[in-house]
Amino acid sequence: MIQTNTITDTRERLQEFRRQGSIGFVPTMGALHQGHLSLVEKAAAENSIVAVSIFVNPTQFNNPEDLKRYPRNLASDLELLKDSGCHLVFAPGEKEIYPEPDIRRFDFGHLDQIMEGKHRPGHFNGVAQVVSKLFDIVKPDRAYFGIKDFQQLAVIKKMTKILHLPVEIIPCPIIREKNGLAMSSRNELLLPEERENASLIYKTLANARNLTGNKSVQELKNWIQETINQNPFLLVEYIEIVDIENLLPISSWNEKGGKIACIAVRCGKVRLIDNIILN
Ligand code: PAF
Repeated sequence: MIQTNTITDTRERLQEFRRQGSIGFVPTMGALHQGHLSLVEKAAAENSIVAVSIFVNPTQFNNPEDLKRYPRNLASDLELLKDSGCHLVFAPGEKEIYPEPDIRRFDFGHLDQIMEGKHRPGHFNGVAQVVSKLFDIVKPDRAYFGIKDFQQLAVIKKMTKILHLPVEIIPCPIIREKNGLAMSSRNELLLPEERENASLIYKTLANARNLTGNKSVQELKNWIQETINQNPFLLVEYIEIVDIENLLPISSWNEKGGKIACIAVRCGKVRLIDNIILN
C-alpha cells in the first residue's frame, strides 16, 4: 500500500495503476471503522485498484467546534487499511486541496434545503467542493459511498451529473454496531453510556417500519420523535419521511414510490444521523 500526500504524486502513481484496469475510490475523512472497510472491500471486489482518501474537509463543517472535535488518527487508519485491499492512500494537507479558497457555489435545489441541508447550511456545498476536487485528482471509474449519509449520496449523484463527471457512484449498505447503532466516525466521541443509549435510534426506526399500516405519516413521525426524546441522552433534531428517489417529504402512504425515514439526533455533544427504508 502506497501513501501519497501531494496531488502530483497521487496522479503519477494512479497513472501507472490505471494500466492495470479500473480504479475504485473511497473518499473518507479518516477515523476509519468497519463501515469504511466494507466500502474498501466492495471497491476491491469490483475494481483492479482501490484508492482511499483521508482528508477532514473544513469547508463542509458549518460549526468550527465540530471541525475541531472531529476524530483524527492517521496512524491507526493506515494500520486498518494495510490488509483491506487498498492500494493507495491519499492523505493531503489543507493547503494541498485548497491552495486558494474555493468560491464555487453549487445549486442542488431542494436537496440543499431539507434535512441536513437545512440544519447544516453550506455543508453540501463543501462536500461537493471537496468530492469534485478528489474526483478530478483520482479520476476513479467507480466511487463508493455509504447510504447512512443518504442525502449526501443524492447530492453527489447530482453533482456528477451537473459536472458531467465520468464516474459511477456506488451506494453501499449501512454497517451497524452490535447494538444497532449505525457506524460513524463520530461514535468515537460518545461516552460509553451515550453509545449504549444511542442504540435506541435504530431500534425505534426498525419498530417504526412495522407501524406504517397503523399510523399516518405525521403520526409515525411524532411517534418516532416522542419515543427517542423520552430517553434523557437523546434529542431529535429532525425526523423526515421522504421519497427515496427525489427526497421530497411525503405526507401520505398512498404517494407512489419507495419511502425512507431519515433522522438526526443529538446525543450529548455528538450529532448522529441514521435512516431506514420503509417499503
Ligand atoms: O462522508 C464523508 O466522510 C465525507 O463527507 C466525504 C464524502 C469524504 C467528503 O469529505
